[in-house]
Parts: sequence; C-alpha cells; structure tokens
Amino acid sequence: MAKIAVLAGDGIGPEIIAEGLKVLKAVAPQHGQDLEFTEALVGGAAYDATGHPLPPETLELVQNSDAIFFGAVGGPKYDVIPDPNMRPERGALLPLRKKLGLYANLRPCILYSALSSACPLRADLVEGGFDILVVRELTGGLYFGQPKSWEGDNAIDTCLYSREEITRILHVAFKAAQKRPNKRVVSVDKANVLETSRLWRDTATKVAAEYPDVELSHQLVDATAMDLVRRPQSFDVIVTENLFGDILSDEAAQLTGSLGMLPSASLGQGTFGLYEPSHGSAPDIAGTGKANPLATILSAALLLRYSLGAEAAALQIEKAVEIVLNAGHRTGDIAETPDTKIVTCTEMGDLVVAAL
Ligand code: NAD
Ligand code: IPM
Ligand code: MN
Repeated sequence: MAKIAVLAGDGIGPEIIAEGLKVLKAVAPQHGQDLEFTEALVGGAAYDATGHPLPPETLELVQNSDAIFFGAVGGPKYDVIPDPNMRPERGALLPLRKKLGLYANLRPCILYSALSSACPLRADLVEGGFDILVVRELTGGLYFGQPKSWEGDNAIDTCLYSREEITRILHVAFKAAQKRPNKRVVSVDKANVLETSRLWRDTATKVAAEYPDVELSHQLVDATAMDLVRRPQSFDVIVTENLFGDILSDEAAQLTGSLGMLPSASLGQGTFGLYEPSHGSAPDIAGTGKANPLATILSAALLLRYSLGAEAAALQIEKAVEIVLNAGHRTGDIAETPDTKIVTCTEMGDLVVAAL
C-alpha cells in the first residue's frame, strides 16, 4: 500500500485537491494501486490552527509517506505575518522542498491542440502545439542562500550554487531529454553577469559530454524569455536555476492557455516526490468554483508516474484530460471566447472521471 500525504493548504487549494483526489481514487484501483490518503494542515490553514505553517505532525506525516499531494499555500492574510519564516511560502513550502531533498522540479508545459486558441500567441507560431519540459533547480540559488536579511534600508539575498547541485539537476535534464524525440537541452543562465551562472554554464558543458546523443545549447535568461513568445516550438527541455525556472515556467504555462494547466513534480534521489500545480492559491477566485483543477489532476498523473511507477494509470489520466478538452469543456481561465460554455471546478473533475 502506498501512503499519500494530502496537504490542501489555502485559497483554491482544498477545491483543486478535492478534484485531484476524485481522479486518483477512480484510477488507482483499475491499476492495482492501493493508496492510503492522510490529510494534514499546511500553510496559512496550519498557521491559523496551530500557530505554525508547517506543524511537527505534518512534517512527521510526510516523512512517513511515499508521496505528497499538495494544493497551494499563501494569501493576503498571511503576507502580513511579521516573521517571514512563519509565512506559508517560506515557513512551509520551501522547508518541505529543502528538508525532503526535492531538488528537481519538472514542469511539463504542453499546448493541447484543443487549447491552441487559448494560447495568447498568433496561431502560426503554435500550430501543431508544443511540448516543453522545464527542469527547474528547486533547493538552491537565491531562495536559500545565506545571508538573507532586511535591515533598515538594506536587504540581502545570496545566490549560491555548488558544482554538485548544478551537476545533479543537469543529469535530470539530460536523462529526461534522452527519452524525448528531439533530445535537445537549453541550459538557461545569466553568464554574462553572474558568477553562479558561469559555474552553471561550465558544469552544463562538462555534464553534456556524458550525453553525446543529446544536443546542448546555452542561452541567457532574458533572451529565453523573449524566445518563448517568439518561437516556443523551438524548445524541448529547458534546464535552469531556481528563480529563472520559477519565472519562465509561469510564462510557458500561459502559452499553454493558463497557469491552471501546468502540473509539477518535485523529486529527489529516490521515488519520493511532492506533486502540486505550479500556480498559487489564487485568492482572487477562491471559493467561487472558478478554479481550473486540471494542473492538479495532471500532477496526480505525475505522482502515479514518478513515485508509484504506474505509467499506464498516469497515461489514462492524461488521456482523459485530453478527451474532456477535445469535447470543448472549459473552466473560465481557458475559455477562448465570451460565449464558451464554462464549467465549474467540481464539474471539470467529474468530467475527467467520466472520461477515464
Ligand atoms: P496565483 O498563481 O495564485 O494566481 C495568479 C493568477 O492566476 C490569478 O489571477 C489566479 O486567479 C490565476 N490562477 C491561478 N491558478 C488558477 C487556476 N487553477 N484556475 C484558474 N485561475 C488560476 O499567483 P499569485 O496571485 O501571485 O499568488 C497568490 C498566493 O499564492 C501568494 O500568496 C503566493 O505566494 C502563493 N503561491 C503559492 C504557490 C504554491 O503553493 N506552490 C505557488 C505560487 C504562488
Ligand atoms: C512556485 C511558487 C513558489 C516558488 C513560491 C510560492 C514560494 O511560485 O512553486 O512556483 O517560488 O517556488
Ligand atoms: Mn512560481
């Protein structure tokens, strides 16, 4: 039996997790997967109930689980907590990633053909769709480097990377590229300015020598941001540091129609992983039924694929999502025209279950 820790969190977190669980519970038995789900508090919800965004009982639960199914944390109410390390993002999500060694964040940005007109780009730039895998380094760089402080009129964040941290994420990217038809990796940095990026570029070149079947190119992050909207189809795997990956993946997500379409898997050395949509708690639409649950449902597919080795079950979910989109069902964020018939978050989850 596989133990899944369910951390719904804040804002739309509980709404989208409910739909993800619905799909997981429908699919797993068909593939002989016996899953045990245990819910726990995280983020603002945990702070309100216990005074800490990552209570010890939640940490203990995840440490005794095979995977985490995570919603989203944060919101305006918690942005004003005086101690930044008690806020949901820095007090719960980042420590979870770091403590659990989840350094590799995979974000598959796929433009489904049914959603081509939800993409903000001109039709000729995306005809036939695109399939970009963003491999984001998740436990280093500016997010975690010390010192980190704000005193008076001066604030410091430290960007720190070791060759070891860069090497291991590059291996993840090259191995992923080897399994893809185009076998291309673009390593994204700011090597014209940053020392960490010079080390990154040097490391990428060295690691590439172990993958002669994969083509490596280097690109500066500003030019990558431009090329994503100029020629998205030219990308295959993008590998980059923590902050650049955060920004570029939101940009790429919008090209697939909405941030509400982008799933993610955060992995370390073994099969343990944290699976969450790439978006946040969307406080502007929480409680309205407008949230798109597909990024979460697609994250459930990644959980089956990477933590449980249940590839057929993952494919079944991905196929069901495609069927629902092909039938024209849309939440508001991916609706192409004002007269598109819009479904709620719950209805979308039900439609995916029905299409399995
Ligand atoms: P956000 O991703 O929550 O929302 C950005 C925009 O996208 C909003 O207009 C929102 O309505 C829309 N959106 C996001 N997900 C959607 C979905 N599934 N369906 C339909 N529309 C969706 O980003 P934000 O507003 O900048 O941040 C809100 C809070 O979430 C902040 O506290 C932030 O720190 C937090 N956050 C958490 C995570 C996480 O838990 N992994 C990720 C990103 C942001
Ligand atoms: C994401 C989020 C987080 C990040 C925040 C909430 C800390 O934006 O998962 O992309 O920056 O990693
Ligand atoms: Mn982000």
